[in-house]
Amino acid sequence: MSARRIDPLRDVVTLRVDGKKVRAEAGENVATALVASGRWLFGRSVKYHRPRGPQCFVGRCDGCLLRVDGVPNVPSCTLTAREGMRIETQNVIGSAALDVLALTDIAYPEGLDHHHMFTRFAPANRLMKKIARQIAGVGKLPDRVDAARDVRDEDVDVLVIGGGNAGLRCANEAVRAGAKVVLIEPRRLGGLAALVFDPVVEKGPPVDRRRSAVVGVFHEVGAGFTHREEAPDEVRWVITLGEEGLTRFRPRRVVVATGANETSVAFPSNDRPGVIGAVGALELLRQGILPGEDVLLIGAGRGLKVAGRELRNAGARTHGPFAAQGDDIVDVELEGRWAVKRAHHAGETYDCDLVVMGGPLAPNVEVAMQAGAEVRFTGKVFEVVADDEGRTHDPTLFAIGRCTGRRGEAAAAQAVRAGRAVAQ
Ligand code: FES
Repeated sequence: MSARRIDPLRDVVTLRVDGKKVRAEAGENVATALVASGRWLFGRSVKYHRPRGPQCFVGRCDGCLLRVDGVPNVPSCTLTAREGMRIETQNVIGSAALDVLALTDIAYPEGLDHHHMFTRFAPANRLMKKIARQIAGVGKLPDRVDAARDVRDEDVDVLVIGGGNAGLRCANEAVRAGAKVVLIEPRRLGGLAALVFDPVVEKGPPVDRRRSAVVGVFHEVGAGFTHREEAPDEVRWVITLGEEGLTRFRPRRVVVATGANETSVAFPSNDRPGVIGAVGALELLRQGILPGEDVLLIGAGRGLKVAGRELRNAGARTHGPFAAQGDDIVDVELEGRWAVKRAHHAGETYDCDLVVMGGPLAPNVEVAMQAGAEVRFTGKVFEVVADDEGRTHDPTLFAIGRCTGRRGEAAAAQAVRAGRAVAQ
C-alpha cells in the first residue's frame, strides 16, 4: 500500500503532472496531492541523480522541487494546487524513475571528483567542463521572463517575524501596549507548537498578520529614513513576499521569532523517497492524508511520539521507534528504489511503506543573523544570543523563543517581556 486519503475528495482540481492527470483537493498543497496520488519520487539529486522526494513538508528541504507552469525550482509543499497547473519533474533526462543521468551513480560508486577529472589533458578537461555545465545545476531557466514586480514600502513600529507561540505572544503584548505591529508568518499560526506540542496559541487583540515569507534583511546607509531619529543614516529593510506581493518594511524594531526546525536522523538512505520527518507526517495527517500503512519510526523526541500516536489513531501500524546507541548512526537498512518497501533492523525484517524520523530540533538563526544578531554554538546547535527580555546587542533588534534556545515557560515569559520592551 501507499499513502491514501482518509477523507474523500470534495472540491476537486486537476493537475497535469508530467502529462498525466492527478486529482487534488482545492486548497491543499501540490506535494501533498502528489503523495496522496501514490507518488513519493519527485526528482533526482544534483550530482549523482539519486532518487529524491519530499521530506519536511514545511518548505525547509529541497526534496519537493518541481517545475510548475514553466517556473523552475518551486517548493511544491508550499504551493497551493490550482486547476490546470502544469507540473514537471526537473533535473532528469528521461523521467524521474528512468533518468539517464543516474548512470553517474552507477559509474562512480566511490564518488566523482569532478575538480580533478581529465586535468592532464587540457582539451579533454575543457570538453568535460562544457558537458558538466550543461547537465549540472537544478532546473532550467523559466519559460518566460515576468515583468518586474512592484514593491510596496511600509513603515511599522514593530515587525515580528514568525507566528509561533513566542511571536504571537510578543505581538499581542506589543499591540496591547499601543505599538503598530505587523506579524509575518507564511504558514498557519502556532508554528511547531500547534502541530507537536500543546497548542497554546496565544489569544489577544487583533494583530495585523501578513501571510508572507521573509526574503531577506538588508541594511542601507544614507537612505534618508526619517522615522528612526536615533539612527537616521542606516535603514534595516526587511523584504517579504506573500499574498500581497513584495513589501519592503522599515521597522523601528524587529523581533525575530523564527523557532526551530526538525533535523534528519543519521542512518543509511535517510534521503530516500518515502523517508519523512515527524512534522511532515503530522502535516500530511492534518490535511487528511495517511502517508503510510506500515510505518517504521526512527529517532526520538516529542514530535516522533506524537506522529506515531496520530498515525496509529488513523489506522497505520508502526514499528519502533529505533534509535542509535550513543553517537552511532541508526543501524537500519532500507529496501526499495523509488519508495520504501522493507527495512532491516537488529536481525528483524519489517515490511513498511514509510519511514518517519524524529531528529533533534535546531534553532532557525539565519534571519536573525542577516538582521545583525550574534549567534553562539552550544556544542550541538547554533542559537541567537538574546537575554530574557529578547534583547540582542542591537537595541532595535530582538530575538525570542526557540531560535534563542528557550522553550516552554522561559520562552513565553521572554516573549511577553520583549513585547513590552519593543512597544516603548
Ligand atoms: S521543502 Fe517541500 S518537502 Fe521539504
